[in-house]
Amino acid sequence: MKRTHNCGELRAEDAGQEAVLCGWVASRRDHGGLTFIDLRDRYGVTQVAFSPERAAEAHAAADALRSEYVIAVRGEVSRRPDGMVNPDLPTGEVELDVNELEILNAAKPPPFEITDRTDVAEDSRLKHRYLDLRRPVMQQRLIMRDRIIRAIRGYFGERGFIDVETPCLTRSTPEGARDFVVPSRLYPGRFYALPQSPQLFKQLLMIAGFDKYIQIARCYRDEDPRADRQVEHTQLDLEMSFVDAEDVMAVVEGALVHVVREALGRDVHTPFPRMTWHDAMRLYGSDKPDLRFGMPIFDITDLAGESEFRVFRNVVEAGGVVRGLCVPGGEDYTRRQIEKEMAEFVGQFGAKGLAWMKLQGGELLSSIKKFFSEDQLAEIIDRADADEGDLLLFVADKEPTVCQALGRLRVRLGRERNLYDPDQLHFSWVVRFPMFDWNEDEDRPDPLHHPFTSPVDEDLDKLEDEPLAVRAKAYDVVLNGTELGGGSIRIHRNDVQQRIFRLINLTEEQARVQFGFLLDALEYGAPPHGGIAIGIDRLAMLLLGLDTIRDVIAFPKTQRGQCLMTDAPGEISDAQRKELHLSEGPPE
Ligand code: AMO
Repeated sequence: MKRTHNCGELRAEDAGQEAVLCGWVASRRDHGGLTFIDLRDRYGVTQVAFSPERAAEAHAAADALRSEYVIAVRGEVSRRPDGMVNPDLPTGEVELDVNELEILNAAKPPPFEITDRTDVAEDSRLKHRYLDLRRPVMQQRLIMRDRIIRAIRGYFGERGFIDVETPCLTRSTPEGARDFVVPSRLYPGRFYALPQSPQLFKQLLMIAGFDKYIQIARCYRDEDPRADRQVEHTQLDLEMSFVDAEDVMAVVEGALVHVVREALGRDVHTPFPRMTWHDAMRLYGSDKPDLRFGMPIFDITDLAGESEFRVFRNVVEAGGVVRGLCVPGGEDYTRRQIEKEMAEFVGQFGAKGLAWMKLQGGELLSSIKKFFSEDQLAEIIDRADADEGDLLLFVADKEPTVCQALGRLRVRLGRERNLYDPDQLHFSWVVRFPMFDWNEDEDRPDPLHHPFTSPVDEDLDKLEDEPLAVRAKAYDVVLNGTELGGGSIRIHRNDVQQRIFRLINLTEEQARVQFGFLLDALEYGAPPHGGIAIGIDRLAMLLLGLDTIRDVIAFPKTQRGQCLMTDAPGEISDAQRKELHLSEGPPE
C-alpha cells in the first residue's frame, strides 16, 4: 500500500475519497463492535475506524494492534457524525473507514507513553530518545529549530555571506574550556583537538579575502554540562572584514529580528538596548542581565562606612562594598525566609550574610536600623527608591562577591515574584568588556573572551602596565538573562597579537608552536575584521520558552556528559588502543 495522505491532512471536503495512511498506533478504543485507532505521524493524528460490516478481515486483524505498531490502512474518508467531531484536531471532522489493513511492523510496549505530557524521568527519555522524539511536542521543537536555521541561512545568504565549512580535526582553538582530543594513529603520541569554535579558521578566511563568512558550526568543549551548556553545541558563527563593532551588531540585530519573525511570527524592536559591562555588573550584578524587569542594585558603601554597624564598616575598611536590592512589596517575606532561605541562597555565591530592612508605616524596620542615623536611613530609602511595603536586602563583601550574590538573588526574586511576563523576548547588548580578569592560579591576566579580541585603541598603551584596566572591542548579545552570543573586533596586527600572547604568559616559542600559522598569516595582509557567534541551542530554547537546551537537541548528552542511548563515551578494544599508541587501559 502506498501512502496517499499524511495523518494531518484529511479534511471534511475529502469525504468520499479513498486514502491510504501510514503511521504509528497512538491509541485504540473498542466501542460497540467497532475498533477506533488514532493513527499518528509527524504531521498529525487521524482517527481510523474498523467495522466488521465494512471489512471483516481488517476488523479481525485490528485485534492484534497495540500502541506503536506501524501500519498502513486503505479506506474511505467520511465525515464524523454530529457530536463526534473533535474541534481540537485539524482532522477532527473526519475519520478513515478502513477497507484494508497491513501491519508493517509490530512494537514492544514502549517504556513510557508517547504523549506530549509525560512525567517519566529524563534518563529514560534519553535512553530511548527515538521514542521520546516520537512525541509530537519534541517533533515540534526540532521542526522549530529547523525553521530557525533556515531563517538564518536565508538572511545571510541574501546578504552575500558565504557558508564555509571548517575542520573538526584540528589544533586547540582556545575559548576557555578544556579540549577534547583525538589520538593520531599515524603520528604516535600526537593528538588532534576538536574545535571549541571555528575562531581561528574564520579569521584566516578573512585573511584569505572571503569578506563575509557564516557557518552553522558544531563546537566541542570539555566542560561540565548544565541546563544551557552541552559538551557539543551549535553556533551561528560569522565573521566580516573592514567592519567595526557597529556593523557586526547591526547585522546580528537584523538576523535576530528576521529569525523571530520567521520562527514565531513576532516582532522585536531594534536597536537592542546597550549597556557597558561595568554598568551591567554594577546595576544587575551580571554580565548577562535579565532586563525584563527593573530592581537594580543600589550602593550604600559610603553610608555603611560611616555607620556604627561593625560588620559593614569592617568590609568597607577592607576595600569591600555594601550594596542592596529593593524588593517591591517584599514585606510579606518572613524573617525565616530572609535569614534562612535567602541567606543560604546568597551563601552559595560566597556572601557571608544578608542584612535586611522593611519599609512599613513610613519607617524602616530592621535590627540594624539602630546603627544608622535618621539622615542615613532617609538616604538609604532614597537610593533604594523604596516604597511602603518594600523589602531591602544588603550584602557586604568584596565587589565581585556582592555582584554575584545580589545578581543571582535578583534573578531568583524576579522569577519568584512574577516581576516579568515570561513570554517577553528582551534582547540587549553588553559592550566594552574588560580585556582580562586575573587568573589567581597562574598569576596572570586571563582573556575574558579569547586572546584574539582587540583592545580598544585608546587602551593599547596600558596593556603591559595596567592590563586589568584595558577594555576590549567585545560585545555580547543577551536574551532574557542568558548569554546568547559573544563576539569582538579581532587583532589584525602581528605585533599586538604577540603582545597579548606574552601577557598571558605564552613564551615566544609556545606562541609559535600553538599559533605560528596565525602569526604568519597576520603578516601577509590581514584586513581589519570582526564577528560573533550565537548559540543556536540557546536561541531555540529561549524562543520556545524552555528551561534546558537538551529539549532542542535531538541526541543530547546528560549533565554528566554521557549519551545514554549509545552509552558514549565507550571503551575501545585493545587492538584500537594499540593502533592509537594508547598504553593505559581504563582504571580497574
Ligand atoms: P563564545 O564562547 O562566547 O564565543 O560562544 C558563543 C556562544 O555559543 C554558545 N555556547 C554554548 N552553548 C551551549 N553549550 C556550550 N557549552 C556553549 N558554549 C558557548 C553561547 C555563547 O554565547 N569564537 C567565539 C565567538 C566570536 O568571538 O566570534 C565564541 O565561541 O550562546
